[in-house]
Amino acid sequence: MTARVTLVSLLVVSGCTGAEDALRPVAEPPQVEAVDRNPDPGIVEVELTATVGTTTLDGVDVPIWGYADGDGLPTMPGPMIVAEPGDLLVVHFYNQLEDGTTLHFHGPRLPNEMDGAPVGGAIVAPGESFDYVFPLEDAGTFWYHPHWDTARQLERGLYGQLVVREPAVAGANERFFLLDDVDRDDSGHIVVEATEDDRRFGRRGDTMLVNGAVSPVLDLSSNALERWHLTNASNGRYFALRIPEHTFTVIGTDGGLLGESYDTKRLVMTPGSRFDVVVSITGAPGDTIDVMTEPVDRGPSSPNDVSHRLMTLRLGAAGSSPPDGWKGSLPRRQIAPIDVSGAKARELRLGAAERPDAVSFYINAESWPFAEPEQGVVGDVEVWSVVNDTATSEPFHLHGTFVQPLDLDGTAWPHLSLEDVVDIPSGSTVRLAVPLEREGNWMFHSHILEHAELGMMRVLRLVR
Ligand code: C2O
Ligand code: CU
Repeated sequence: MTARVTLVSLLVVSGCTGAEDALRPVAEPPQVEAVDRNPDPGIVEVELTATVGTTTLDGVDVPIWGYADGDGLPTMPGPMIVAEPGDLLVVHFYNQLEDGTTLHFHGPRLPNEMDGAPVGGAIVAPGESFDYVFPLEDAGTFWYHPHWDTARQLERGLYGQLVVREPAVAGANERFFLLDDVDRDDSGHIVVEATEDDRRFGRRGDTMLVNGAVSPVLDLSSNALERWHLTNASNGRYFALRIPEHTFTVIGTDGGLLGESYDTKRLVMTPGSRFDVVVSITGAPGDTIDVMTEPVDRGPSSPNDVSHRLMTLRLGAAGSSPPDGWKGSLPRRQIAPIDVSGAKARELRLGAAERPDAVSFYINAESWPFAEPEQGVVGDVEVWSVVNDTATSEPFHLHGTFVQPLDLDGTAWPHLSLEDVVDIPSGSTVRLAVPLEREGNWMFHSHILEHAELGMMRVLRLVR
C-alpha cells in the first residue's frame, strides 16, 4: 500500500549571489513517488527503468542517466519508493542503458540474490530486465543505486530513495532529502570522469543538489517543527550540515530509530549514510536562513574545501506551534547491545598505495575484483576491527546486515545504534559488532565510490 508522505516542494534559487533578489523562485518538481501498481495493501509493486534523459539545473537542460517510473521520463533522483514494514517489495526493473547495471538496495536486509551487487545477483545487460522481490523487514530510510561502474553511474543521476515508514513525530512536517553534489563543465553539464584529486579523496562537486535541485528554497512557517530524513548520495563528499542558531535533534541513523536522541549543531554525514533529525525552526516571518555544509577535516591528507549553501529556508507567518514538550515524546526504539562475548575477531585494514601517476586502494592488502572472499559462518557474531591505514577518513559499508559500533580507538561509541556505514578516521581503529545473518556473498567497501572501484572493496562469503 502506498503510505502518505509529505513530498517536498522545492523552489530553485537562480544565480548564486546571497542578495535578496537572488530569491527568484522557479517551480521545481518534488521527489516523484513511484506508483504502486498492486492493489494488495501488503504488496508494493513498482516499475523502474534505467534510461537516458535530461534534468534542469539552474535553467540548463543537462543530460542524465536516471530512473523512470515505468515507461515515463527519468528523474534525478529517481522515483521514491514508499512502503510499510512487512510489505513485500516487487520492483520490475528494465535496463534501457547502453551499459550493464544493477539495482542495489542500500540498507534493508534482504536475500543475497536480491542485493543487486555483482557477486550476489547478476548484472542486468542492456535491454534486459530483472525482478527484485523481497519482504521489507526493516523500517528505515534507505536508498537504491547501481552497483556496477558505480561511481560514474551514480554521478550521472542513478539513485533514489526507499522509505520504509517509521513512527511519526507529532506536529512535525516530514521531509526526505537526498543530498548530492556534481561538477559541471562550461555548458553546465555534469562531469562524469573523475579527476586525480577525485580519485585520491573521493569525487566532490561544487554544485550542491537537494533532491536534484540546485540550492533550493524551502518555504516554512516561522515556528515550524521539521523532521528531515537525510541521505548522503554523493560519491565522495562528507557533508557537515549546519543551520545557524538551530540544533539538530538526531532521532535515527542508518538502521532506524535510536534508543535515545541526541543534539548536535553540526551534523557530519559520510557518503552513503542517513540521519533522521528533528529541528524546531525559530525566526521572524520574512527571515531567510541558509542551510550550509561546512568543510570536514578528514585527516593528514584532507581535501581542500569551502562552505557551500545547500538550501535556503524562507520563513512565512507562524503556523500552529510545536506541541509542548515535543522533545520528550519523540519516537524511539529499544536497541539491545549485541552480545559479543565469545565473538570471533576479524581485522580489516584499509590501505592506499600512492604512486606518482596513480593511487590504488585495498583491504588487507588485496583489491577488488582480484581478491579471494573472506569467509564466515551464518549465525556467528564477530567483532571487526576496521583499521584505517590511509591518510584520509573512509566510510566503511557492509551489505546484508546492520552493525553496532563498539568503540573508536578504545573510547566507547557514544550512541547505541544500528548502522550500515561507519566513518573510520585516518589512523584509527573502529570496532564493530557484526551479526553474520544470511548466506551468500556480501560486499563490504568504502562508500567513497572512487576508492571502492580502485580496489577498496571485498567480498564476505557466508556459509552455513
Ligand atoms: Cu550503497 Cu555497496 O553500496
Ligand atoms: Cu550498500
